[in-house]
Amino acid sequence: MNENYYKDQGFPEAVLPCCPIEKRLRGQAALVTGASSGIGKAIAIALGHAGADVLLNYGSKDEEARKVAEEVSRCGARCVTHKADVSGEDQVIAMFARMREEFGSLDILVNNAGLQKDAAFDEMTADQWDRVINVNLRGQFLCSREAVREFKRRGVRPEISCAAGKIICISSVHDIIPWAGHVNYAASKGGVMMMMKSIAQEVAPFRIRVNSISPGAVRTPINTAAWSTPEAYDDLMRLVPYKRIGEPEDIGRAAVWLASDDSDYITGATIYVDGGMTLYPGFETGG
Ligand code: BGC
Repeated sequence: MNENYYKDQGFPEAVLPCCPIEKRLRGQAALVTGASSGIGKAIAIALGHAGADVLLNYGSKDEEARKVAEEVSRCGARCVTHKADVSGEDQVIAMFARMREEFGSLDILVNNAGLQKDAAFDEMTADQWDRVINVNLRGQFLCSREAVREFKRRGVRPEISCAAGKIICISSVHDIIPWAGHVNYAASKGGVMMMMKSIAQEVAPFRIRVNSISPGAVRTPINTAAWSTPEAYDDLMRLVPYKRIGEPEDIGRAAVWLASDDSDYITGATIYVDGGMTLYPGFETGG
């Protein structure tokens, strides 16, 4: 298949309308974890452009985080950066205290920080297992707990949103697709799915909505090897019925919608934003 196959077919590139006139999230404050690059960066920008103020959490890349913050605030939103490891309880508690200092409260939490430490199962070290589970699952637990505490304390402000708060867990297609060589990662995302649903069930009576977005293959630094050469891209397309890689902005748009009152009756749901990766593409011709 030639390198330009997908372009030659006239498949359109994904586009993000910048600074939409309608600011659906105006007056709301969001905390996005792991937002100095990739999907977290696109979500922070999309929320900012939809009118939300943003606390942009990141782990280590100061300069990148600063640049993303500039982009978030380009359409008028306020954005502050906050460095913290989401797997550290004290750091998470301090980050939510900062959130209240800066913005008064919290309306939207996006649990995005996540990483991979891949290894064949029998070679996987306990450190590789722990780091992935700690950031991807414990981190989402700690941040969600602080968010729920704040949402319960404050309750619904009808002039701002129908809900007391919204939590969006960034999971993965690997919360249902097993993934050899990535057992720690798949286990963490499977855990995120059940954690999300169980929290959603528990806090729904408080008008707190909890949902997941499960991305498929998205063009970010975490999976460069899967899309950066024509051969790798063609291989990847065998797993994607829609025949294009996801762009981080595809996830940003879904996050804005899930954070807005347009999705007010949705809680405990997982939205797969994956170009059909979860549709068993092997069965397109087999079976
Ligand atoms: C992983 C990527 C992978 C994608 C589809 C994501 O959750 O982080 O590395 O390309 O799933 O397999």
